[in-house]
Amino acid sequence: MESNNKISDCHCCQNEIKFKYNAYMLDNWNIELYEKMLYIPEDVIKGVDLKIADISSENIHILLCGAGSGRIEIPILKKIKESISKLFIDVVDINNKFIERFKEKIKSDFSQDEFIFHNVLLEEFFNQHKVENRYNLVTAFFILYLIPNWKEVVIKILKNMDEKGVFILAEEIGDFKEINITESDDKQNEYRKYYKEFWDEIKKSGFVPLYNYHSYSDLGLLGDIFEILNEGGLVELNKIESTWDNNKIKFSELLESLKGNELVISMNATHPKEIRKNIYNTFKEKWDKILDEYIPRKEGHRFWIIKMKEQPDIIADKFNKIYCSLLAESRVYNSQFIDLIKNYEVLKI
Ligand SMILES: C[S@@+](CC[C@H](N)C(=O)[O-])C[C@H]1O[C@@H](n2cnc3c(N)ncnc32)[C@H](O)[C@@H]1O
Repeated sequence: MESNNKISDCHCCQNEIKFKYNAYMLDNWNIELYEKMLYIPEDVIKGVDLKIADISSENIHILLCGAGSGRIEIPILKKIKESISKLFIDVVDINNKFIERFKEKIKSDFSQDEFIFHNVLLEEFFNQHKVENRYNLVTAFFILYLIPNWKEVVIKILKNMDEKGVFILAEEIGDFKEINITESDDKQNEYRKYYKEFWDEIKKSGFVPLYNYHSYSDLGLLGDIFEILNEGGLVELNKIESTWDNNKIKFSELLESLKGNELVISMNATHPKEIRKNIYNTFKEKWDKILDEYIPRKEGHRFWIIKMKEQPDIIADKFNKIYCSLLAESRVYNSQFIDLIKNYEVLKI
């Protein structure tokens, strides 16, 4: 599978917008630190697997989009495996280091022949692979915000789903998402203040995050569309929330990601290293004083479990129409959106 030249031109797709930068295409990730920072206890997925347990088929076809090291994906697979003997799983991820870590983690509980790993951009996966069977389950956790033409990708996912298939997405609800700064001077609050300072500075640097519009800290427009599909009875939407205390992490470890040496926190990793380094230097003196302190963090995810209630092609078509009509209603088609688009290298609509 082609893995080196990761940005390639898709000549068939005329309405693509390309990212200037996707740090996940780099090789210098410290996966161990990434997993420590973005730790999720396994039982967080308890509620999720209950909802997908009613997939009734002998052979379950699963697509894991941007599976990373499988923090959420592997516990879900383990749960499904309890009741279904044979899984067929396509794992798509652009970063081979993450794929290797994923492989290590599944060694003892799964047989290798249940998996096919695709080290390609998700945008290209459906062009390069003829999907033989429709998917019973698709997950896309914290990846779609990295894909400029995410709408096209979601439509391809929907078109390749089984008519009773389940699509699961997730968004942040913990400290990553909300900066609940209070009057208190406890450590968690102090960290939030630093975090907000850093984030304000990032915005000043001209990098406006696109993710609020389609899935990072929240699902944004993507979520709006699924809400409307749910109201119209085309899908059944259930949301499940979990929060947890994060692993104890030293402030110095958090800073590693800001410096850009270890591209750890995905939020910051979507910004070029040089920018993160400069911003880090702005705060260095102040931050250096608390390097050895442990920073408490309350993390949380909200899972969106979307069950198909109509033919997938029909849902995909409606998805497209709702997207277009929301834009036409100017819910996101405003000056901020235009500014965002200007930051992109290619705009062919
Ligand atoms: C923020 S991580 C999320 C990983 C995992 N889903 C989780 O929740 O822990 C994003 C993952 O998507 C992969 N990725 C980023 N952009 C991608 C793209 N365009 N196509 C395929 N994989 C991509 C990255 O390599 C990374 O493993």
